[in-house]
Amino acid sequence: MSMLSTDLKIDHAADHIADRLAAHLRQGCAALAPVSSWEPFERRLHRHAGDLAEALSALYGDREDFMAVLERSVRTAWQGWQQRAPEWRRLDEQRDTEPTWFTDQRMVGAVCYADLWAGGLQGVRGRIPELKRLGVTYLHIMPPFRCPEGNSDGGYAVSSYRQTNPALGTIEDLRSLALELRRHDISLCLDFIFNHTSDEHEWAQQAAGGVAPFKDYYLIYPDRTVPDQVDCTVREIFPDQHPGAFTQLADGRWVWTTFNSFQWDLNYANPLVFDAMAGELLFIANLGTEILRMDAVAFVWKRIGTTCENLPQAHQLIRAYNALCRIAAPSLLFKSEAIVHPDEVMRYIDPKECQLSYNPLQMALLWNSLATREVNLLQLALAERHRLPQATTWVNYVRCHDDIGWTFADEDAARLGIQGYDHRQFLNRFYVNRFPGSFARGVPFQDNPATGDCRISGTCASLCGLEQGDHWAVDRILLLHGVALSSGGIPLIYLGDEVGMPNDYGYRHNPDKAGDSRWVHRPARDDALYAQVDTAGNVHHRIRTGLQRMIDVRRDTPALAGTELTIFYTHNPHVLGFLRGEGAQRVLVLANFAEHPQSVSAPTFSAGPARTSDLLSGQSISLNDGLELTPYALMWLRYPG
Ligand code: GLC
Ligand code: GLC
Repeated sequence: MSMLSTDLKIDHAADHIADRLAAHLRQGCAALAPVSSWEPFERRLHRHAGDLAEALSALYGDREDFMAVLERSVRTAWQGWQQRAPEWRRLDEQRDTEPTWFTDQRMVGAVCYADLWAGGLQGVRGRIPELKRLGVTYLHIMPPFRCPEGNSDGGYAVSSYRQTNPALGTIEDLRSLALELRRHDISLCLDFIFNHTSDEHEWAQQAAGGVAPFKDYYLIYPDRTVPDQVDCTVREIFPDQHPGAFTQLADGRWVWTTFNSFQWDLNYANPLVFDAMAGELLFIANLGTEILRMDAVAFVWKRIGTTCENLPQAHQLIRAYNALCRIAAPSLLFKSEAIVHPDEVMRYIDPKECQLSYNPLQMALLWNSLATREVNLLQLALAERHRLPQATTWVNYVRCHDDIGWTFADEDAARLGIQGYDHRQFLNRFYVNRFPGSFARGVPFQDNPATGDCRISGTCASLCGLEQGDHWAVDRILLLHGVALSSGGIPLIYLGDEVGMPNDYGYRHNPDKAGDSRWVHRPARDDALYAQVDTAGNVHHRIRTGLQRMIDVRRDTPALAGTELTIFYTHNPHVLGFLRGEGAQRVLVLANFAEHPQSVSAPTFSAGPARTSDLLSGQSISLNDGLELTPYALMWLRYPG
């Protein structure tokens, strides 16, 4: 690390930097008026310039022009701040007074493709009442930006961060949707797809033509020398799409493409890329985005000879963007999308990095427990890998738009006598219905016979047995969601799952989608199925009302806020137990992962109350003789401690 960052450990040095940056900015921008907007900016600049300078110096501190890099980023922040609408500045002030608002138990997330779920951005707006009824307070809309026609990886190949995909609506539709959501107390979450752009992005086009400065925005090599070196040390993410991490251009050169061949990785070693993307970030923030989903964080920094995943500089890069946002769009939160080893997932979670993170471990282990009917791995993860720093939280999901990958730690599995590799093979067989007695109807994703790697696609309903007509499917769906709703963090529901939408195999007939089985679990909203929810007695009604009950109870149960949790050992391998909250408010969650009744013995409850009641069913329960749980039972018991 450079001298500068060491110096910055001293507070007055940071102040000095902020003064210097502010002075430069004042000189550079003759028209800093209105003064009313300069003051809060300068205040925040003073508070966060040290963090910004420290992170940037870790990335670019060795450069002679480092001070210019720093100044440029502050200038970009200032431009972003100037363009921030009054509504969002008001929200900035408000959130200053309630910095942990997002850890509240009233938070419920939902995610959808605007077109598939609602026919477009205006359609989503029309469905706000439905979201409100469900209890949603956070809506992630899948990337709505301009992208290539045909295959765009579901919008994850962005051709312009400042224009929308016309099929969804206009940028004004997006702005007004954000405002309307805010009026209904729903926070809009959008992606920041910053590892790569599409090959149709103007920068990429210019880069391909060798035009400065864009030719250094990406990682393009004249021959296979570097690509061959890199391919020896990096993982293949989409091996079905292309082997290795590079794609050959028409002129014979090779461009770094970690994901699809049309997704060109950006070159963050170039500070111009940092700055250009900072501008795009603030544009997205100023649309009214309250939560920014930091896409593919693990991959953003490359160093030849390494795995190019989770490098220290990836963290510094996010810290620099975080500091920039504290200055220019302070109410914005970052959500980390790191689907990697659980130790690495944890490292992105920090108020100065990402305040929120997907919880891929819990997600994978929920499915693991459903397959094995044993809670051992899930319990270990909750006991040892659930605690987070202050002012951060999990996003707990049952499944998302991506595949399910078995990203548990082999070390954890080994402690329980489970061999990671073999166990993953079993899980894959189980979820694609190639294991005797399996209830799941999943589809393999990126099945790689060379490495034995494979992930799973499928909707929650189809993976839980609904498609197969399994008797316990509804109970499984509610069980998984019930744990995600109670274990601590923001639950995130994939819209369609709340009514039990099954797999949609139609993608196989669409050449743009056929090669990507994740489309099987991205069905378009089926209005006929949604209509069944209003009639009692059918499975969709049971799913929807069961979920609603849990969301409603959760909202009124402060013990379920935050992420603090204590394991409650049930001494039954099929029954998960954990305690939430404290004192008179405390709640005991019990979840039976087997399709047979299970009992928890009386001595297990000896330190607790003799009688309790289940918040979900409203029933009063005696614990004197232990407890019998019906198949797949989920209970939220009052358990004052
Ligand atoms: C993220 C997205 C995934 C996409 C990838 C490349 O992981 O969730 O859908 O394919 O990034 O952008
Ligand atoms: C890998 C990546 C993750 C991406 C996913 C898409 O798991 O780690 O970032 O979303 O692939 O399938």
